[in-house]
Amino acid sequence: MSERRIQAVKGARDILPDEVGAWHRIEAAARDLFPRYGYREIRTPVFEETELFARSIGTETDIVSKEMYTFLDQGGASLTLRPEATAGIVRAVIEHNLAESDPAPKVYAMGPMFRRERPQKGRYRQFHQVDVEAFGMSRPSIDAEIIEVSLAYLEACGLADRELVLNSVGDGNCRPAYVETLRAALRKEAGRLCADCQRRTETNPLRVLDCKVPEDQPIIDALPKIGDHLCAECHDHFAEVRRELDLLGIRYRLDHRLVRGLDYYTRTTFEVTSGELGAQNSVLGGGRYDGLVKDLGGPDLTGIGFALGMERLVMLLPAAGGEPRCDVFLAPLVPAALDPALLLQRDLRRAGLRVLLDNEGRGLKSQMKKADKLGARFVAIRGEDELARDAWVVRDMAGSSQEEVKAGDVARHLERMVRG
Ligand code: HAM
Repeated sequence: MSERRIQAVKGARDILPDEVGAWHRIEAAARDLFPRYGYREIRTPVFEETELFARSIGTETDIVSKEMYTFLDQGGASLTLRPEATAGIVRAVIEHNLAESDPAPKVYAMGPMFRRERPQKGRYRQFHQVDVEAFGMSRPSIDAEIIEVSLAYLEACGLADRELVLNSVGDGNCRPAYVETLRAALRKEAGRLCADCQRRTETNPLRVLDCKVPEDQPIIDALPKIGDHLCAECHDHFAEVRRELDLLGIRYRLDHRLVRGLDYYTRTTFEVTSGELGAQNSVLGGGRYDGLVKDLGGPDLTGIGFALGMERLVMLLPAAGGEPRCDVFLAPLVPAALDPALLLQRDLRRAGLRVLLDNEGRGLKSQMKKADKLGARFVAIRGEDELARDAWVVRDMAGSSQEEVKAGDVARHLERMVRG
């Protein structure tokens, strides 16, 4: 009886060795760029108490209402695999009093997130985010900086073709009145809207602006716009964010429907999209969340940040060659050549070279084929003749040239050749 072959869970992807070079490059770009702006890395657990996400992201959002991986552990606690990074980071900032020693903590994080969405190109159930957050700064300059750092990161990774979309969703002063205005307008259209929008009209009218149902679009486009209902403080804050973006030469498109899929936002919200991604066109998204730290039991500390989908970024980058796998391939052709090859291999690896050895006892031709397949730059060969002369033949695979090198010199010779 043949056993069923187990496969990766739907929506969870393997990142294979040939692809991992692109991931190393975007991770290295994050570690290089963010510290220049004062952001330091933070690592929080992949699971948290379920209540953390319900209270921060909002129970009416798609994420919390239907996409979370929630389970009871043996002790009966309700835990959830993090669907995003911000909530856990805010919890950590509060729990460790990070704002006590540094009134304006700036952090970044990278890692896997989990949402039970319908998988499709660019949308997975386990995906990875690069996340950047700045606390304790309410002036518009940090909004402009967060947007600037997000674009600088895309550029550092090699992504040029993208669009920045911008909005302000107001704050606790002006949004409640706007939400009521919106609800009243929606009630008038109730019969013509999709069932989800009819429900959201009562539970969370802002979510209607996120609706993608084609028939609803003309109705939604005609609804009252948040931009016309901002209080003076929010209006001025947003005007200054835009002035500073102009100053920095950053172009954007305003979209009054950009309310984002999480409830914690106040004032500035933004997304960066790329036409090349298709339906799932958002590469990154973020915004301000000034009330969240306090709502979760912390000090009255403002916050702003963004998260980028690493799978989507990798998809957009030009396919770069894989990382070099093999500097030197060692081919001992006779059993007596094995021990010196093992010692040479150890010494070269200690010196920092990438070394592979064929110990499967095949002939020169098949070993050269294997070296070629592995992308080896040099091959060191030792057969009967070389043993007798206490030497190695070193072949340069690119130049197709070769020379004989004394055994005592071969390690230094190869090091010199590889390092150029
Ligand atoms: P978000 O818009 O839910 O925001 O996600 C940010 C990015 O994560 C998206 O633009 C997308 O690139 C990627 N992403 C989301 N879901 C998936 C998925 N199922 N598969 C692949 N990629 C996905 C947040 O998560 C907020 N925490 C951002 C933030 C940080 N706001 C303030 N600080």
